Amino acid sequence: MKNIVEVRNVTKKFMGAKVLDDVSLQIRLGDKVAMMGPNGAGKTTLVRSILGFYHVDSGSIRVEGYDPIVARVDVLRHISFIPQLPPPVKLNISELLTYVERSTGTAKEEIVSQADAMELDVEKHMAKPFFKLSGGMKQKLLIAIALAKKSRLLVFDEPTANLDPKARDHFYRLLSSIDYDHSTIFITHRVEEIEGLANRKVYMDLGKVMEDEPI
Ligand SMILES: Nc1ncnc2c1ncn2[C@@H]1O[C@H](COP(=O)(O)OP(=O)(O)O)[C@@H](O)[C@H]1O
Ligand SMILES: [Mg+2]
Repeated sequence: MKNIVEVRNVTKKFMGAKVLDDVSLQIRLGDKVAMMGPNGAGKTTLVRSILGFYHVDSGSIRVEGYDPIVARVDVLRHISFIPQLPPPVKLNISELLTYVERSTGTAKEEIVSQADAMELDVEKHMAKPFFKLSGGMKQKLLIAIALAKKSRLLVFDEPTANLDPKARDHFYRLLSSIDYDHSTIFITHRVEEIEGLANRKVYMDLGKVMEDEPI
């Protein structure tokens, strides 16, 4: 089967320092990857490179066959990404949902309903700027948007750091109820939390993939 993500011998440097060191990683449809490793291992840099946010110094990356830098808009339209830190969006919630609807074809109602399942009442906050929501509310809204998009590839960079235990449970329940073929990359420090949601563990350190095994 065709790989959704194909990373081949990628090296990425920041100011001369190798942050990704000859990384290769293939992700097939249905792979649920728990990506682990200490701070500074290069996890965020790797997923951001897969999303086309960075040019790499050598090697190649393909997402659904596309170069994520060349076909950035297409690639991003088909990926759901939750960053480690919520972006400083100035739009209010209503504007944000309209933007998402126009740029990705994701119905607002679907986002509202996903948010509802995490006990976030979006309707109540429509006029509020995104950046004024609490950390947990931002995270829930970003998750709701990510899930409502129904992407084949979902990328989560430590998505639960700001969530209370109950919200975390709601989130995991939503993730496990996705009923179409998809792949996930889930960066986490707590693999036991995503038991049942991951079928593969990739462990990174010092810019390299040190372990890659089924779980
Ligand atoms: N935009 C950047 N500019 C310079 N250095 C960076 C940048 N992003 C990450 N780094 C460095 O790259 C290394 C890997 O960071 P990162 O990919 O965020 O690791 P992880 O997500 O595994 O904690 C760290 O040493 C970090 O300081
Ligand atoms: Mg990180």
